Amino acid sequence: MADIQYFSGLPEVGVVPRAPHAGPLLQHVYEQEHGRGGFSGKVTHTYHLYPPTNWLPGETRHLEAWAPRWESPLRPLGGIHHALGVAPQEITDVYRGMARLVANATCTMNVTAPRAPMEYFFEHHSASMIFFVHEGGGTLETTFGPIAYGKGDFLIIPKGVMHRFDLAPGPQYYWMYESFAGDPEKSEAPTTGRFLTHSQSDYKFPRSLATVNESGRFEVISKTDDAYTRRVHPTHPFDVIGWRGDYLPYKFAVEDVRPLVADRSHVPPSGHTIFKLPGCYLCIFTVRSVEKEGMWLPFFHRNLDYCETLGYHFGDFFSQGRRAIVGPGMVTVHPVGLPHGPKPSALEAFMSGRRGEIHDEVAVMADFANPTRISEFALGLSHPDYMSAWSGYTASPKFAYDPARLDDVRAIAERLAGARDGLRPKGE
Ligand SMILES: [Fe+2]
Repeated sequence: MADIQYFSGLPEVGVVPRAPHAGPLLQHVYEQEHGRGGFSGKVTHTYHLYPPTNWLPGETRHLEAWAPRWESPLRPLGGIHHALGVAPQEITDVYRGMARLVANATCTMNVTAPRAPMEYFFEHHSASMIFFVHEGGGTLETTFGPIAYGKGDFLIIPKGVMHRFDLAPGPQYYWMYESFAGDPEKSEAPTTGRFLTHSQSDYKFPRSLATVNESGRFEVISKTDDAYTRRVHPTHPFDVIGWRGDYLPYKFAVEDVRPLVADRSHVPPSGHTIFKLPGCYLCIFTVRSVEKEGMWLPFFHRNLDYCETLGYHFGDFFSQGRRAIVGPGMVTVHPVGLPHGPKPSALEAFMSGRRGEIHDEVAVMADFANPTRISEFALGLSHPDYMSAWSGYTASPKFAYDPARLDDVRAIAERLAGARDGLRPKGE
C-alpha cells in the first residue's frame, strides 16, 4: 500500500541515505557527523554537496582581541547585590559585541545588543548557547535550516553548530547563556510530569532546508575558550541537502511556558525551572495568577548554593515596589548567602492585604552554582544605589525599632493561633 507513510525514529529532512554510514548515496554526497559524548551521545548527520574540510590553504589564522568584552576579566562577587544597567548598543554584530556578565566553572551569562550584520558564520567549540531575545528578531540561519525568531523567544544553539544571525530592522537586545559541560536539559519533575511547565512539543526545530550551492569566500569564526580562529571556505557552508538526527538547534517561546501557581502557598523559584545545565538552572517568571491565600510575593531568602541572576523582560516586577531601581533590560545579581527579598513598598502592600489578580511580568532567572564571579564589564554597569533598594526597612516607621514590638507580635500570634485557610476542605 503505497500511500501509507511513516515517521522514522529520528527526525530527518531532505535527502538522506537509508541509514547513517550506509548506502550508495554516500559515494555522491559528503556525510558529516555532529556528535556529542565521544560518538555515543546525541548526534545528527548532515549530507553536503562539498567536503566540510574544503577550507582554503593558508587562510586559517588566530584573531587577536576579536571579542574583547566576551573575555572581560572576572572578579569575586563579595556580599553586595548588583543591579546592572542596560548595556550600550554599539555598531557591531552579535558576537563581536558579546559581553560577559557573570561566570562559574561551567556556565556564563552574557549580553549583546547588535546593530551590524554578521559578515561571517560562527561556531562555538566550547559551549552550547541559550539566547533569550529581550528585544528584536530576525532569522537564525543554521546548517540544519533557518529559524525565525522574535521578542520573547529562546534560541538554543548546541555546541559546534554553524550559524549566522540575520537581524531584522530595529533594536536588538539578547541575553546569552553558555554551558561548557553539557546541553540544556528540559526540566521535569516526577510530580508534575512532562507537560508542566512546558512540553517538548513547544520546541521548534528547523524543517525548511534551503540548500545553497554557491562559490565565493565564506569566513567561519570559531571560539574555543578565549581563542578565536578564522577559516575560509570556497563554497557556501549551508550546502546541506539533508540531515537526520536529534542534535539540533531550536527555538522555544516564553509564551508557551504555563507556570505553576499555588492558591494556598507560594511556588518557589525552582518551581519555574525550564532548563537544567551542569552548574546552573534557568527559570522563567511569566504572566500568572496571583496566589489567592498564600504569600504572593517572594519570601526573604538567602540562596546558599547559587548566585542568582535575574534578567527583567517586562512587567510589574512584583518584588520591586514603588521605588523600583530595576527596569526592562536590566539584570540583577544576588550573590550566594546574601539575604534579599521583597522591597519595602511591595511588602507593605502584602501586609496590608492589597492583592492584585495577575503577576503581569516576564523575567529570566539563571542561578549559578558557587563560586560565581562577576566581570569588570558588568561592574561598569552596576547601579551604585542598588543596595539602597531595601532602605525603606530602615527609613519607614513601619519597620523601625519599636520597644513594644515583641509584646505586640506575641499578642497577634495568640489571636491568630487558630487561623486556617479559607480554601480548606469544608467540614474538616
Ligand atoms: Fe532570590
